[in-house]
Amino acid sequence: CGIVGYIGAQQAAPLILEGLTRLEHRGYDSVGLAVVGAGREPAVKVVKAAGRVRDLGSDLPKRFSGRSGIGHTRWATHGPANDVNAHPHTDEKGDVAVVHNGIIDNAAALRARLADDGVTLTSDTDTEVLAHLIGRSVAETLEERVVEALAAVEGTYGIAVVHADFPDRIVVARNGSPLIIGVGEKEMLVASDLAALVRHTTTVAHLADGEIATLTPAGFTTFRHDLTRVARTAAEVDVDPTSYDAGDHESFMRKEMLEQPAAAERVLRGRLDERFGTAHLGGLEMDPRETRAVRRVKVLGCGSAYYVGQMGASLIEELARIPADAEAASEFRYRDPVIEPDTLYVAVSQSGETVDTLLAVQEIQRKGGRVIGLVNVVGSAIARECGAGIYLHAGPEVAVASTKALTNMFLGFSLLALQLGRVRDLSVADGRRLIAGLQALPAAVEEVLAQEDALAAVAQRLAEAESLFFVGRVRGFPVAREGAQKFKEISYRHAEAYQTSELKHGPLALISEEVPTVAVVPDDELTERNVAALHEIAARKGPLVVVTHPGVDLGGLDVVRIDVPHLERELDPILLTIPLQLLAYHAAKHLGHDIDKPRNLAKSVTVE
Ligand code: G6P
Repeated sequence: CGIVGYIGAQQAAPLILEGLTRLEHRGYDSVGLAVVGAGREPAVKVVKAAGRVRDLGSDLPKRFSGRSGIGHTRWATHGPANDVNAHPHTDEKGDVAVVHNGIIDNAAALRARLADDGVTLTSDTDTEVLAHLIGRSVAETLEERVVEALAAVEGTYGIAVVHADFPDRIVVARNGSPLIIGVGEKEMLVASDLAALVRHTTTVAHLADGEIATLTPAGFTTFRHDLTRVARTAAEVDVDPTSYDAGDHESFMRKEMLEQPAAAERVLRGRLDERFGTAHLGGLEMDPRETRAVRRVKVLGCGSAYYVGQMGASLIEELARIPADAEAASEFRYRDPVIEPDTLYVAVSQSGETVDTLLAVQEIQRKGGRVIGLVNVVGSAIARECGAGIYLHAGPEVAVASTKALTNMFLGFSLLALQLGRVRDLSVADGRRLIAGLQALPAAVEEVLAQEDALAAVAQRLAEAESLFFVGRVRGFPVAREGAQKFKEISYRHAEAYQTSELKHGPLALISEEVPTVAVVPDDELTERNVAALHEIAARKGPLVVVTHPGVDLGGLDVVRIDVPHLERELDPILLTIPLQLLAYHAAKHLGHDIDKPRNLAKSVTVE
């Protein structure tokens, strides 16, 4: 899941370990590194184990001296998380070491072929075949050997390779899994994520799919698979290295939740046009005629991005009166979707690297559809593939559970909805009304965050339940889905999202004193209906936590009430989401979980 490599004048092991620590919060279950030893006969030394970076031992750098090496944090796909399956993987002689992100689809066939040739495979992984294939190649250069091995491979990869016979270089290759080269003073780094590089250098080059690169202390060279050169120059990235530190905060998730007001201001800055009640989106490259020609909007994303995509789709439908819906990107391309020329497809992703979303984008493009990105990470695969879109400017998000990026996704959709709406039937007055709402939003988020202590107390009670419901309707339903998702991913409690209206058609059978419900009840045209459903829950003794707006009459019900500020009804979903983040956070904290590193999960999933 995470790759870090170093070659230069310094000792590689401590630098690689430090880099891997920076990737820890993205989720992983095993760790390892390979260092090319110095001396006349350089040897590749490998250490790896299931567990955390610190489990490798503090004396490791002493035992592993050498000025080049590669490291990896693994998130198990093929084979359980154990010492043998951890990366790097080596060939039989132990001369080659490979770290790999992605999945080799034809690994089973390649393993069988290698076994037939008498090769002993030691792990259950798909990656090991790469080490053997490179190790068995007799081509002259390491680059040729890597290319030869990759020619046999189908699937996705970001790999880094060291070889005892070629101690002066690291060879890396990318197909579907990100790799970024960091350029230092007589030293080169490579990593799957900027977070592992920024402390050493902010001069970076993104490797493109289908490219390989050689790193030496003096520089890097990029090639295609036929080994012809590709010109790629490094550029300075505008990022504050300290934004990758938790600072005084007890966790990244808490830090990032508290950053939401500032992040929200950034995504809106310079994009609101009060005079005409619209939004200007420079990265969209759509003129009014093209904008008008859009007949349908389809949003694609995974996990939290999918749920916020549902909020975004409703917003677009409501403001622009264009039919809009969201779909899980992971499912989309497998149903052979009909791609319509007058549909605007929107791919939404924090990392811009989620493979399921990237493959959906490619499916749309293959069929001639038009797709834009709503992406946080500048220069990421989805952003580049789409070519046009809206950057979210949330700043680096480290915690697996998305908070500030999610809020900015919603705001990105608000901007898009305004623009689509204003070339259609949305009036200037309504445009201005929404702009005023958006401008007031950062302060309103702050108000919700200020209720943290009260929410923490509620969360501790919810944490005691084995199972809970999160319910909402229409605008409130994706809020409930996102609330349940957060709750389960970090508290490990079973939390199920349901449409409030559907409770009576089944799940009501599960309601009891032991099963609390968190209900999203905005002040809107459905309030009365929602309150009626709360009565049905209360009648079955189901404990209730209600996230609502000031002034909503809950009919004398005995509930825990959480009020959030009410701006404009179209913007309700995002403000209603904020307290649910805090509930999940404090439930997980109360239960003593490692909030930034929820078990089994990864920040960006670069495998299908
Ligand atoms: C993973 C993470 C989720 C995230 C999803 C989409 O599954 O665990 O928290 O929502 O990927 O990530 P993206 O980077 O595409 O927004």
